[in-house]
Amino acid sequence: MCDNTSTKPCEGFSMDTVNELRKRVGGLGLKYFIETYGCQMNEHDSEKLAGMLRECGYTKAETKGEADLILFNTCCVREHAEKRTFGNVGFIKELKAENPRLILGVCGCMMQQKEVAKKLFDRFPFVDLVFGTHELSRFPQMLLEVLDEARVFQVTESDGEVVEGLPVERTEGFSTFVNIMYGCNNFCTYCIVPYVRGRERSRRPADIVNEVSKVVAAGYKEITLLGQNVNSYSCDGLDFPALLRLVCSEVPQLKRLRFMTSHPKDLSDGLIKAMSELDNLCKHIHLPVQSGSDRILKAMNRRYTSGAYLELVDKLRSAVANVEITTDIIVGFPGETEEDFEATCELVRKVGYSNAYTFAYSPRAGTIAARMEDQIPEEVKKRRLNQLNAVLAETIPSNNDKYIGFEGEILVEGVDHRGEPLLFGKLSNFKMVYVEGDESLVGSFLNVKVDGYRFNSLFGHIIQG
Ligand code: 5AD
Ligand code: SF4
Repeated sequence: MCDNTSTKPCEGFSMDTVNELRKRVGGLGLKYFIETYGCQMNEHDSEKLAGMLRECGYTKAETKGEADLILFNTCCVREHAEKRTFGNVGFIKELKAENPRLILGVCGCMMQQKEVAKKLFDRFPFVDLVFGTHELSRFPQMLLEVLDEARVFQVTESDGEVVEGLPVERTEGFSTFVNIMYGCNNFCTYCIVPYVRGRERSRRPADIVNEVSKVVAAGYKEITLLGQNVNSYSCDGLDFPALLRLVCSEVPQLKRLRFMTSHPKDLSDGLIKAMSELDNLCKHIHLPVQSGSDRILKAMNRRYTSGAYLELVDKLRSAVANVEITTDIIVGFPGETEEDFEATCELVRKVGYSNAYTFAYSPRAGTIAARMEDQIPEEVKKRRLNQLNAVLAETIPSNNDKYIGFEGEILVEGVDHRGEPLLFGKLSNFKMVYVEGDESLVGSFLNVKVDGYRFNSLFGHIIQG
């Protein structure tokens, strides 16, 4: 591990604890159900929780109703996610009445906010276990305590650590995630993440390469390297572009390498060069802009201007053939005027994103923006969100004209049965393409030619490679 922390042995995930748990529950045919909210980081944490449960002898339940252990892995990036969690945890009371041995745990980002976690723990006495983001690897230990009839509340303040060697139960398919770093040091003024995920810490390159090799050997064809701010990766003298080069050269069998999320202020020429030179590095970048107004970007502490962002977009487009850019945008940040909002719409028109995630600003307790004056009324935020989505609904399809006649390779992810069955899969640059073809082709790379489009999806046919 790099920077100011050191790799810790798996304190919670000791084989002794696992063996003890196996002895207690191994032969009982117990099942777990994990409900995950929020980002890919959370999804991947859930795969680690599932991996630990597998080692302890649990198998996956298809529904909450057949589970003996239910875990809610929560998010707190916006208020909506928090409200949903309170509602959904409340529903479990009935299931507990039907199955008294059912264990209910709540974990993740929302539980790392101690006050919120305490409120949930006190309000719902049928919740057996609450733990924060820094406790993930100690999950088997805590489960053992719950089996001994204890109610466990484990939320500690920490800058975080890196725990290597946790088992992972990966979602079946052809694409999967590998963490390269954790935490965030950026403190964008609206964002709760740095408070609940701790400071930036990067994994050792050797550990990352090792995991990527194992995952590829297990049959995965596309890997997304994950971090809150991947391009500030730094460890053992390697920066992010150097890590990408290392992974591509050490694991040449990996056909597709992706990464997310990138911060515009750290998007270096070195990264653009790596994207243009490495064949197996996908030609897509998720580059959250958040706002098109320089005044708002400053108040958000984003540390770039709209002009600097547009320059990056130009550089990417001229260096990386067929690159596509996606983004995140917040409307209704405190103090945002109609003029600021119009600047955001203008930037969206200029960039020509292939997709965008748009959000109404949601005040998060403890962040700087939540204490700012000039909070924007909810109805104004809603109206701006609708207006922005209307701009995107115009600009996204209009960028698809250039794809008519385009030839490229997709990794087939599945069959869409909504109408006539169609195979679907993404190009390297993340554009989704639908083609007619046999179900047996799921999981393979196919050469396709694009004939048309609908909103942000392309439609085409298979061609010979
Ligand atoms: N309100 C609304 N959106 C937010 N995001 C982060 N914090 C907030 C907030 N307080 C959005 C940002 C970020 C994405 C993951 O979530 O756009 O990029
Ligand atoms: Fe939040 Fe900003 Fe860090 Fe992203 S870079 S996780 S928006 S603080």
